[in-house]
Amino acid sequence: MKLNVENLSFSYEDQAIVRNLSFSVKDGEFIGILGPSGCGKSTLLNVLAGILKPQSGRILIDGKEIRGSSPQFAYMPQNDLLFPWKTILDNVCLYGEIHHCKEAMVEKARSQMARFGLGGCESKFPEELSGGMRQRAAFLRTALCEAGIFLLDEPFGALDVITRSDMQDWLRELCTNLQRTILLVTHDTDEAIYLSDRILVMGAPGEGIRREIAITEQNRTREWLYEQGALRGKIHKLIKGIQ
Ligand SMILES: Nc1ncnc2c1ncn2[C@@H]1O[C@H](COP(=O)(O)OP(=O)(O)OP(=O)(O)O)[C@@H](O)[C@H]1O
Ligand SMILES: [Mg+2]
Repeated sequence: MKLNVENLSFSYEDQAIVRNLSFSVKDGEFIGILGPSGCGKSTLLNVLAGILKPQSGRILIDGKEIRGSSPQFAYMPQNDLLFPWKTILDNVCLYGEIHHCKEAMVEKARSQMARFGLGGCESKFPEELSGGMRQRAAFLRTALCEAGIFLLDEPFGALDVITRSDMQDWLRELCTNLQRTILLVTHDTDEAIYLSDRILVMGAPGEGIRREIAITEQNRTREWLYEQGALRGKIHKLIKGIQ
C-alpha cells in the first residue's frame, strides 16, 4: 500500500516536534527511519497510527485520506504493551480476538512460535519472560496482522545479536513475499542499511527529514553490509549533524 504524508505538524504544547513534514512511501517499499534520540520518531509513528492527533496536514493511504486510526496500519510501539493478565498466546493473537478471527490466528501463531524463540511459552504470562522474549512476542503480534503498512518502532532493540539478525531476515521476507510496506524506526544504522530501500535521516525536533538515502543494491547480504563502512560513516555524521 502507498502512503503519502502531506505537511504534517504535531506539537506538544509549544514545542513543535513534527513540522510541515511531507514524504511518500511506495507500495511494498521498506523505509528505515534514523535520527537522534528525542527528535520525534516515535511521535511521528504515533501520529500515523492515530494515537496522537496532528494539528495540521494529511495522511493518505492509496490516495484516500485517513483520520484517526486505520486498520491498514499495524503498529508496534517502542514499549511492548503486552497485557500482563493475558497469556503469551492470547497477547500474540490479540488482533484476532478484536477482529473475530481468533481461531485462524491461533493456528498461524502456533506455527510461528518456535521461529520466534517462543516455543513452549504459549501459556506463560509476560512477567515470566525475558525482555527479548517479550519483544519477540510483541513483534509476532504485529507481524500476524493483515494490515498493508507496518509501523515498527525499534522492534529489535532488546534482542541479542543472533536473534536480531534472524528477525531482520524474517522481516525482509515479510516485505518481499507478502508485499508489505514497512516503516522501521531504528537506532541501528546497519539494520537500516541491510533492510531499507530508502533511509530517512531525521534532524532535531521540528527539523524534519535531514536527508534521504536510497539503498540501490538489490542483493544485500551480510557480507555486503560489512563492506559499507563509508555509507555507515556518512549516516552517523548526518545523525550527529556534522555533515
Ligand atoms: N507526552 C509528552 N509530552 C511532552 N513532550 C513529549 C511527550 N512525549 C515525548 N515528548 C517530547 O517529544 C520529543 C520527541 O519524542 P519522541 O519520543 O518522539 O522521540 P524519539 O525520536 O522517538 O526518541 P528515541 O530515539 O529516544 O526513542 C522529545 O523531545 C520528548 O521529550
Ligand atoms: Mg522513540
